[in-house]
Amino acid sequence: MPHPDRAPIDLAIIGGSGLYKFPGLENTTRQAVDTPYGPASGDVVLGDFAGKRLAFLARHGESHTLPPHRVNYRANLWALHSLGARRVVGVNAVGGIRGDMGPRVIVVPDQLIDYTHGRTTSYCDVEGAEVRHIDFSEPYTEALRLQLLAAARAANVEVIGGGCYGATQGPRLETRAEIARMKRDGCDLVGMTGMPEAVLARELGLEYACLALVANFAAGCGDEAEISIEEIFAHLAAATAEVPRILDAMLK
Ligand code: HPA
Repeated sequence: MPHPDRAPIDLAIIGGSGLYKFPGLENTTRQAVDTPYGPASGDVVLGDFAGKRLAFLARHGESHTLPPHRVNYRANLWALHSLGARRVVGVNAVGGIRGDMGPRVIVVPDQLIDYTHGRTTSYCDVEGAEVRHIDFSEPYTEALRLQLLAAARAANVEVIGGGCYGATQGPRLETRAEIARMKRDGCDLVGMTGMPEAVLARELGLEYACLALVANFAAGCGDEAEISIEEIFAHLAAATAEVPRILDAMLK
């Protein structure tokens, strides 16, 4: 049901690591949503941005208290859907595997491989629910991907279109051997939150695309023997600063 006293939501953003509040979001109200799946990561913040109505949800909570495997993905997407959102952009911090996907690069992937385990990956996972087998050949909504890419280019933000996102369990980073295997599998990026978010969005009939912000080269892909968490957050902050510019260009 759309939010009763407000215009319909044009776009929902799920913010990942480093994006806990959406810069430039004005006239905000907070909405706690009861879901059949338990609590979402926090309140949904509704507000105006670029003349449009936006909903924002911090995936890990506004104080980053939820690790990737404890995020209630079902509740998050349900909450956004129940408020009337129909288009969702997931912003995800990732490690780069492909050589041209180094720190601070922004990618809009077009494929994914799921290496996570023990996460609830379907709304069917409820006693008595109808079992549905959805098509997931193309895990992201192509029209929304193309809008993001065109907007990034219009805003003069460098972006790479396409690439395969490998979703790992976390919260630890991967071993070099794990990343070498993912590379052989065809992964270009590695992150911990891309699934089951994408498939749950599909089950709800939401348009969904991922804006992947590269924070570091994945294990064994860069020059460093170890990955520094401080550097990850510094690179992420730089890439995150471009996100509102991209969305501003997309919504105008
Ligand atoms: N691996 C998994 N997830 C990540 C990484 C990584 O190297 N960097 C940022 N998110």
